[in-house]
Amino acid sequence: MTTDSFDFTDSNQQVQVVSGNKSMTFSVIKPEIVQVFQDYGKSTHSYAVEGNKSVDTKYAVAKDGDVITIKTDALTVKVDPQLHVDVYDANNHPLVVHYDGQRESINQNIDAAHKKIVRSEGHEVAAVDEASHAYYEVLNQLDDDEQFYGLGGKTGFLNKRGYEYDNWNTDEPRPHIESFTHLYKSIPILFGIKQGHPYGLFFDNTYRSHFDLGKESSKYYVYAADDGNLNYYILGGDTLKDVVADYTYLTGVVPLPQRWMLGYQQSRWGYSMDQSRVEEIVDKFEQYHLPLEAVHFDIDYMKGYRVFTWDTDKFADPKAFLTSLRKRGVRVIPILDPGVKQDDDYEIYQEGLKKGYFAKNKDGSVYINRVWPGKSAFPDFGNPDVRKWWGKHCKFLLDNGAAGIWTDMNEPATFDGDMPDDVVMTDEDQPSTAKMMHNVYGHNMAKATYNGIKNATGKRPYVITRAAYAGTQKYSTVWTGDNQSLWHHLQMSIPQLCNLGMSGFSYAGTDIGGFSADTTPELLTRWIEAALFSPLFRNHSALQVRNQEPWVFGKHVLDIYRKFLNLRYRFIPYLYDCFHNETQDGLPVMRALVLNYPDDRTVRNMNDEYMVGDDVLVAPIVQQGQTARAVYLPKGQWIALDTGVEYAGQTTILANVPLDKLPIFIKKNTLLPWGQEVEHISDQPDKTMTFRLFGDAATYTHYQDDGVDFNYQNGEYNEYTVTVSTSGDCSVDLTHHGYDGQYKTVNVQLNDQLVTFKYDDKTAKYVAEK
Ligand code: GLC
Repeated sequence: MTTDSFDFTDSNQQVQVVSGNKSMTFSVIKPEIVQVFQDYGKSTHSYAVEGNKSVDTKYAVAKDGDVITIKTDALTVKVDPQLHVDVYDANNHPLVVHYDGQRESINQNIDAAHKKIVRSEGHEVAAVDEASHAYYEVLNQLDDDEQFYGLGGKTGFLNKRGYEYDNWNTDEPRPHIESFTHLYKSIPILFGIKQGHPYGLFFDNTYRSHFDLGKESSKYYVYAADDGNLNYYILGGDTLKDVVADYTYLTGVVPLPQRWMLGYQQSRWGYSMDQSRVEEIVDKFEQYHLPLEAVHFDIDYMKGYRVFTWDTDKFADPKAFLTSLRKRGVRVIPILDPGVKQDDDYEIYQEGLKKGYFAKNKDGSVYINRVWPGKSAFPDFGNPDVRKWWGKHCKFLLDNGAAGIWTDMNEPATFDGDMPDDVVMTDEDQPSTAKMMHNVYGHNMAKATYNGIKNATGKRPYVITRAAYAGTQKYSTVWTGDNQSLWHHLQMSIPQLCNLGMSGFSYAGTDIGGFSADTTPELLTRWIEAALFSPLFRNHSALQVRNQEPWVFGKHVLDIYRKFLNLRYRFIPYLYDCFHNETQDGLPVMRALVLNYPDDRTVRNMNDEYMVGDDVLVAPIVQQGQTARAVYLPKGQWIALDTGVEYAGQTTILANVPLDKLPIFIKKNTLLPWGQEVEHISDQPDKTMTFRLFGDAATYTHYQDDGVDFNYQNGEYNEYTVTVSTSGDCSVDLTHHGYDGQYKTVNVQLNDQLVTFKYDDKTAKYVAEK
């Protein structure tokens, strides 16, 4: 191609590069974010990025022969006449470089006949060569020193290099293993560290898409899509944290949860078959002095699995019952599935039918498939009116006392084969099909539910969803779906939650103890330990498996379980601070070590340790039978929480970890808020807060609000700065005073003494007691 037909136009931070009859648009969003767009005539509505994110940015565009360069302070993007894109950081280090070669099939030497033979025994044969029907591909060079993170909660390991993944939300009951390419969520954000330099690529396309991250070949990695516009964002920055923050800048942060949402939750498919079973569970929690914030009601509470109904044969007066539980400090979270039972005597079905709110077949009839209630219709959640309708109906559950809503089966899962791609759905105000709307079905259901709860209660909604797309974090917490009581799934929970965190989902958890299969006393114990800082903290299990409440394995397990629940509650103010920080800086609560120490090669593949914020490191046992483990401590000095022993970093130590131990290390010179051991988190402000010093001197900023509603957005919150100097002087300052629930007493626990401060109403200051 000659350079004559290769040129650009530039207006308002949008650079359109034209080459022959093709064009590509580069939008400068901010110095660290450039959007790449190629129009394939498909919907341009984004479900992930809401509102205009562009800020006034200095940039330059120039053409030099066969290269057009767009340069901001953080990124240099180069485009050639083939519209191939290369990206460099501020110091000219390559981040993303187009690969010019051909893709290679893994099984290129096997002919079709032999593939057939292999498949006849049921073996899978990678269909790499068959995948070349991809609608478009982005093919980039892979460096020998390049690692990948993100992609939401895919199976496998922290570093996604060497594996392939699909983005197609799928209900997957088989044991999740590292070769699975897709599960319930599609979060197409890929973070890379290339020769130590971080970047991100966010492919905002809801159609089915595919990543091959060096599985086919160690020379390149690929993003390919089946349909949709080419629409991706290049994210840059000095550190991996900066790049993750760019991503949450685009797709949103997790809003501040209510405080109780950080406490312990108990669930099991089957509890809500019977009111007395629920009562028995709550009684046992009280009897054994175990903290409990919520019990989840699975599908059994409904009348024949009809959504927005309550089976009054099982619960004579649901409202009275839920109120009685609430008085005992326990909330109820009922489930909702999207499938609306096809039943002429059922109001919700009738209403949805009349209003045309269900997804349809091509011929205009309502699309029906089977789920728990039998034959069911599927709300067309891409239609804003349907979302409002659904949201209004949520009031039924809230009026009965529900404290939140669990949305499930929203991939959507169907029992009689998959929903066909041509099922007619709505994309906001445009007609669309399941082919485009499938991956945002759960997103739109969660969003509808969030807004329904917010409008009805004015409180921070609690929604938990199984299916999600990029950006769903703004509306819902997530869990990783139907895991199993397998050691392998406990191991995988750490990389899954850490990658979910980097992918914007700071509020996430696994089914503690495992959903399917039968847990063991040791596995349950190690799970509650490993999940101690899992932001969502819920034990959930299937109908048919062994019970896994804390007490079922006798006193030894019960005592350990209680000890760790109590420890979790000590950390709740810290976790709440981490969540507050996350709303400001977009960084996750539970973190892979690589996020805090990206320059440390040792942690780039670390699957069995994690951090909480910047200051707490956790190294649980995730192997059956193990009672000691190697713990890698990164740069700095570290203090073991249980013994106070100090360790130098950048070394591996051997920790003895009998069944009742969890190695936790605090970064030296940290102050941590230390909450109270309570059985239920109160909506009333704490009167006292304690800060514990680890090391010699530290400063800490602590956040407090009512923990319930949105008043904090109008300044109704407090910020405290607690400082301890090396000489042992300490101070507590109320650096922002907008909430009248300020602590009456603040304790600062130094190494050798406790200093108590009292709030003086007259001066609005904390004064140390003599
Ligand atoms: C799905 C959910 C699971 C739930 C079950 C019954 O399998 O993932 O959590 O218990 O459905 O509703």
